Amino acid sequence: MASTSHPTLTVAEPYLIQQDYAAYTPEQHAVWQELVSRRMPQLREHACQEYLDGIEQIGLRADSIPNLAEVNKRLEPLTGWNATPVSGFLPPDAFFEMLAARRFPTTTWLRSRESMEYTPEPDIFHDVLGHVPMHAHPVFADFLQHYGKVCATIMGDKDKLERMGRLFWFTVEFGVIRQNGGIKLYGSGLISSHGESTYVIKGGPEIRDFNLEQVLEQQFKVSEMQKVLYAVESFDQIYEAAKEAEARLCR
Ligand SMILES: [Fe+2]
Repeated sequence: MASTSHPTLTVAEPYLIQQDYAAYTPEQHAVWQELVSRRMPQLREHACQEYLDGIEQIGLRADSIPNLAEVNKRLEPLTGWNATPVSGFLPPDAFFEMLAARRFPTTTWLRSRESMEYTPEPDIFHDVLGHVPMHAHPVFADFLQHYGKVCATIMGDKDKLERMGRLFWFTVEFGVIRQNGGIKLYGSGLISSHGESTYVIKGGPEIRDFNLEQVLEQQFKVSEMQKVLYAVESFDQIYEAAKEAEARLCR
């Protein structure tokens, strides 16, 4: 086993698991294949370039569930990020500890054929197809680590954490970027959902220019299509926003 330069995790440690790759069934690999082949035509057209590059860089395959060890062999040399297998939802302190250490909490279970479009909890499709490709992008990678670091320092303040949660929602989960004269997707909640993406592509939500002040105050509903989204011009903008949020909330 190669040694890792990642800091030791303490709060998140109980949630770390191994990915039992041999335990996936042919049916599960077939579900993965169908999920990916259903999403890719739309993503090739509407996902941002950095995301599409990331898919190639991490060696994501359409024909089989990702082997996280293989993904990490490609990802770590690029940005130091690691898709780390976890048992499920993490409490906030464990989640932020992992982000601050450049380790993305990654679930290993896969939705069944009966719930192809939506699962209330993240699965490996949402986590790896939705999130991990962006971690190959250096600026996004720095942003996400910094975001985790800031949140880890305000754990005792529910109000500040809620505001930071909105920054996560409108970037990491439902972020869009202006690129090549159009709106392109990069948020994992869009990338991994055909319904949400189609709603955006058809002009459903109001697209506002990214504005940190507004984002920190913008309410959202998890259970509905998003009515408002915030478009960035570049990923430097969200990294700067995380630093600006730190300056405002951590003093
Ligand atoms: Fe997510």
